[in-house]
Amino acid sequence: MAERLLIVDDEQTLRESIQRVFSREGYAVDATNSAESALELLNTNVYHVVITDIILPGIDGIELLKRIKERLPEQIVIIITAYASIDTAIRAIRLGAFDYIVKPIIHEEMKQTVKNALKQRALQSENVILKKQIERQYAFTNIIAASSSMNDVLDYLRKVADTRSNVLILGETGTGKELIARAIHFNSKRSDKPFVPINCSAIPENLLESELFGYVKGAFTGAFNSRSGLLAQADKGTVFLDEIGDLGVGLQSKLLRVLEDREIRPVGSTQSIKIDVRFLFATNRDIEKMVKEGVFRSDLFYRINVITIKLPPLRQRREDVEPLVKYIVQNYSKELGKSIHGIDERAMDYLKSYHWQGNVRELQNVIERAILIAEDGIIKPEHLPENIREGDSAAQNALSNKLSIEDYTKAFILEYQGSYNETQLADMLGITRKALWEKRKRWGLQK
Ligand SMILES: Nc1ncnc2c1ncn2[C@@H]1O[C@H](COP(=O)(O)OP(=O)(O)OP(=O)(O)O)[C@@H](O)[C@H]1O
Ligand SMILES: [Mg+2]
Repeated sequence: MAERLLIVDDEQTLRESIQRVFSREGYAVDATNSAESALELLNTNVYHVVITDIILPGIDGIELLKRIKERLPEQIVIIITAYASIDTAIRAIRLGAFDYIVKPIIHEEMKQTVKNALKQRALQSENVILKKQIERQYAFTNIIAASSSMNDVLDYLRKVADTRSNVLILGETGTGKELIARAIHFNSKRSDKPFVPINCSAIPENLLESELFGYVKGAFTGAFNSRSGLLAQADKGTVFLDEIGDLGVGLQSKLLRVLEDREIRPVGSTQSIKIDVRFLFATNRDIEKMVKEGVFRSDLFYRINVITIKLPPLRQRREDVEPLVKYIVQNYSKELGKSIHGIDERAMDYLKSYHWQGNVRELQNVIERAILIAEDGIIKPEHLPENIREGDSAAQNALSNKLSIEDYTKAFILEYQGSYNETQLADMLGITRKALWEKRKRWGLQK
């Protein structure tokens, strides 16, 4: 049977030429000019590989990639990018693209990329290998933790992983919440059952309900057949409800009922189905504050907040930076087939002292970029983005984030309170110690 490809490109000549190249090779090729129509085709057809341009009218290639990966996590997607947007290409890889092809397209290269993708897929369908890979990937040993605060997190994780309690994972963006969630699943008795991540903020509220609970035929216009929901598909496994703070009020009460009764009712159905799933939740929002403000149901909060894991921001555990960098270099250079044998000391100093607002993910992006552009196998300061090299003075940060004086002061206190005493802090801020004390009190900042 011929392997099926789907080409998504709005430039007709390019699209047709790609189509011709692969048809000649014996593939069955469909081609379309927009992400919207690609999504429709994917509803009704199976493709071994999707090749999409990044720039498209309407939904762009990156968003298309995201939507495909949400629905079909195993789908192989290859993106086409202009030379100038290599950063976007890296982002796409992070989002799960298999690889990227740079314009102008070289046919041989493109054919090879598709071949590689298909080869990898054949390999992966040998389930055992895949499972081993995943287990290794999420073994606790692959969560880098040199700091005492991250070690505390891991100790706690070992204790709670193999229980059936709900876990709430809190932390700023990029601190590793999803990594922790997967580690919990793969270190529990449920590890050979599905792990189903659901991003509550990525799916519109009205769709989310039927995605979660499924629906019966005729439940709404367009529901021609019954369909089971994600929660039912995760039976005996683990559901990771990500960005739980973004769940709308209507669904909050429906979720509460699921947690209380351990059963779900598909949209339009009069009958409930028993399910056995373990729930993990994550958010980067201040959910306790949302409870106080009445935007998040307190009864739901108590249900999900049985066990809480709080991931500290990277800037509060700088000991983790160096081992993380080494870990990223090791993994990513292997992936790229590029050998990197070291990081210059000054570059490492910059990395250690930077503010890392985007935490480990930001560090990862910076290192991956550096690996790509490093030439003689050594990462040097000039391979780091300018803002990191300029040092990360708090003022610069405040400027680039357009912080108000208040926010700046707050950030400043949080950042430097570990390193300076009260008098020094107040001096640096140009305020009295009493004013500093009052601000702390007003903002509820612990010393
Ligand atoms: N301690 C760690 N060791 C190794 N890799 C890490 C660690 N923490 C985070 N990472 C990596 O950093 C990236 C971001 O982590 P993850 O996606 O889990 O963050 P997140 O908290 O879910 O972020 P967001 O709130 O933006 O969704 C991932 O690639 C993850 O594997
Ligand atoms: Mg996440």
